[in-house]
Amino acid sequence: MAAKATMAVTGIVLLSFVLGHMAGNLQVFLGPEAMNSYAEFLHDFGHGLALWVVRAVLLACLVLHVASAAYVVRVSKAARPVGYVMKKDVATDFAARTMWMTGLIVLAFLVYHLLHFTIDPLGAYHDFVDAEGRHDVHRMVVTAFQSLPTVAVYVVAQVLLAIHISHGGSSLFQTLGWRSPRNAKWVDRIGPTLAAVILVGNLFIPLGVFAGLAS
Ligand code: HEM
Repeated sequence: MAAKATMAVTGIVLLSFVLGHMAGNLQVFLGPEAMNSYAEFLHDFGHGLALWVVRAVLLACLVLHVASAAYVVRVSKAARPVGYVMKKDVATDFAARTMWMTGLIVLAFLVYHLLHFTIDPLGAYHDFVDAEGRHDVHRMVVTAFQSLPTVAVYVVAQVLLAIHISHGGSSLFQTLGWRSPRNAKWVDRIGPTLAAVILVGNLFIPLGVFAGLAS
């Protein structure tokens, strides 16, 4: 089905972003110089044009991912109004059955996250400038994660994102025809492995900062 393929391909793009974003954000533990010069590089690369191209691609992927997911859910509900009676693997099924819910909560987190750091409508971090005149992203992240409620929101969102990826990261192989009886054993481990890596990395940022490891 074209909608499932769209979901899988856009999922790969979004997953790549999440991995890259995590690696970039972990630089908060390397200090202000590493973090702020990295953020400045991303903002200025190609005279700022590259950032907007990446943003446009990500937004397009996100919209397509959500729209095709909504379509797939609608079609499968119409085809199976009563639902399955037998469930095989309980752990896998939990992630699979809650995909729409974890997806929607991650989407809500994303809106909050963009308002929090990128749009910053209240200007909480507007005057955060380092000695070199760059946006002080390091200080912004360190300041943000002094607040326990903020840390809690990020922790919950990362757990749900990991559950979402643990299923999506494997099922995309099936959708794209890359899963066979021969490779099924390790293909089925890709999603949970990616989810675990992303969970550890993304949890370490708010928790590590809160514990004082980045100040
Ligand atoms: C612990 C987890 C995370 C941390 C610490 C974090 C941190 C940040 C920071 C500091 C920025 C602003 C960068 C800047 O102003 O230069 C940002 C932007 C962003 N984050 Fe995250 N992030 C996290 C998780 C996520 C997740 C899970 C997603 C996606 C599901 C995500 C998507 C984005 C997007 C789309 C932007 C906007 C990039 C742009 O400027 O266009 N982040 N994040």
